[in-house]
Amino acid sequence: MQSTGGNPPSYPYSSVPNPPSGFSWFDVTYVQGGYYRKANFLDSSGYVMTGPGKQYNLAGFNFVQYTDTSYPPGLPYDESCARCHATGWKPSTTDHQDGLPGIMGTWFEAGVTCEACHRLADGSGIVLNNSAAKCGTCHARPDGGQIETQGGLIMNYEQYDELMKSPMSTHTCQDCHSPHKNTVYGGGGRVVSHTCIECHPSRIVRPGGHETLVCTDCHKPPVVKSAVQYGSGDYKRGDTSTHIFKIDRTKNPADMFYSSGGKTYAHGFLTVREACLYCHDGIEAVYLTAAQAKASPIVPTHTPY
Ligand code: HEC
Ligand code: HEC
Ligand code: HEC
Ligand code: HEC
Ligand code: HEC
Ligand code: HEC
Ligand code: HEC
Repeated sequence: MQSTGGNPPSYPYSSVPNPPSGFSWFDVTYVQGGYYRKANFLDSSGYVMTGPGKQYNLAGFNFVQYTDTSYPPGLPYDESCARCHATGWKPSTTDHQDGLPGIMGTWFEAGVTCEACHRLADGSGIVLNNSAAKCGTCHARPDGGQIETQGGLIMNYEQYDELMKSPMSTHTCQDCHSPHKNTVYGGGGRVVSHTCIECHPSRIVRPGGHETLVCTDCHKPPVVKSAVQYGSGDYKRGDTSTHIFKIDRTKNPADMFYSSGGKTYAHGFLTVREACLYCHDGIEAVYLTAAQAKASPIVPTHTPY
């Protein structure tokens, strides 16, 4: 998250070239995101801009609708965003960051900075916390550890919920990530010495059309949606990859989901819909139905070599 001061925000790898149509950078106090999938904007009073054309998507370089709330007034910038996108957030109805009435509290620093991970809860000192649960304070939704879905795709920022439902729940995020380096742009945030093969040495993909595939193609498919989705039905995919890893080919696509309290959640496994059909849609690779993918003899031969 960064303030604009009348200028476009700056990023190490991406750009958000324009504010929403009809506004100048002087009308935007802060930009949230914009690093890899999408950006949201806070107006000159600190309210989150909502409605048609208020979210910028990096995939299409275009502006799309952001939530159903009309603008103005938009949404107050409060706990529901700030607890994960700002460091040292203190909610308040009377203290407003920068004196902006739309911001319902104050922060120590905008964005996720050192102290988001290294500050003791009471602010009295610094700490090294290597647990996945610490990362999960921001990489999870408040649904008692369940994996929330919408329209057949997993919702974003649920990496901790997904990992805890997967067979690799005993692992920390740092088994695969370096928290001081970026993952998305290949900056070394995925620790090279801890690749899949280091812990699963016998799982090697055999010939049969899959010679060029890597483990994550099937075990970490893009079935999470942050900003955009592609395809439809069994061939629908999102723009972000899941952390569930386990594939159960005996299950049908619908078995992945269950309903509870009016919401739809995912179990801790992927079916052939997630693991295979996003490629086997007749465009990326030969067309397969879910039944054909379930019956395919190709896959089990990847273990052991
Ligand atoms: C996303 C969470 C996160 C952020 C942000 C973060 N760190 Fe860390 N840091 C960690 C974790 C987790 C470890 C332990 C890593 C390990 O043991 O592999 C760590 C380790 C360290 C260490 C111990 C030595 C080392 O490198 O292992 C230092 C010093 C440190 N961090 C400083 C910083 C500073 C300074 C910043 C801001 C510029 C920062 N960290 C930002 C999570 C974070
Ligand atoms: C204070 C909340 C917070 C904590 C704690 C936190 N994250 Fe994040 N993390 C975020 C937010 C917000 C983003 C998205 C930032 C953006 O793109 O604007 C993010 C992005 C990421 C990304 C993708 C960006 C990249 O290129 O690497 C990874 C990977 C990640 N976090 C891993 C971790 C790990 C591992 C930990 C624990 C050591 C952790 N995070 C702790 C809030 C947090
Ligand atoms: C529970 C923590 C949490 C809350 C609450 C939260 N976010 Fe995020 N948000 C994240 C994390 C973590 C990411 C990056 C990982 C991901 O998308 O899976 C992210 C990603 C984003 C991105 C895309 C970042 C980029 O650079 O592409 C935007 C924009 C965003 N959030 C806006 C919001 C807004 C607006 C709110 C409030 C309505 C909000 N978020 C609430 C944790 C949170
Ligand atoms: C078994 C290894 C592994 C573990 C454990 C793991 N990750 Fe990842 N993660 C990956 C890989 C591999 C990618 C890159 C996927 C890709 O390139 O599409 C990734 C990507 C990400 C991203 C970027 C997603 C995106 O939008 O593309 C975030 C955020 C993230 N991980 C957060 C976490 C958090 C938080 C944890 C702990 C709760 C965690 N990861 C645990 C392997 C792992
Ligand atoms: C730090 C070691 C480690 C790393 C790195 C690692 N794994 Fe695992 N993985 C494990 C352990 C331990 C288990 C749980 C024990 C088991 O079920 O065999 C597991 C379980 C799994 C399972 C479930 C097996 C089942 O029972 O169905 C899959 C699939 C899997 N891992 C894939 C991956 C992929 C893909 C990667 C790379 C992105 C990866 N793993 C990286 C250690 C690791
Ligand atoms: C073409 C898709 C595909 C690729 C690529 C792939 N896997 Fe798998 N993997 C599967 C499926 C499907 C299963 C579930 C077992 C089955 O249906 O045969 C599985 C099962 C597993 C299991 C649990 C195995 C068991 O049956 O005990 C592990 C661990 C695993 N894979 C690791 C890996 C690793 C590591 C790589 C990369 C070297 C990899 N996989 C590449 C599709 C794939
Ligand atoms: C990353 C994309 C990708 C994923 C994921 C993937 N495949 Fe494939 N698959 C291919 C490609 C590419 C070929 C070879 C060229 C072609 O058939 O279009 C192939 C070939 C095949 C073939 C042989 C088709 C034929 O008649 O020649 C079968 C069967 C198959 N895959 C089954 C699966 C199953 C089952 C899964 C999930 C467990 C899976 N694939 C996941 C890309 C993928």
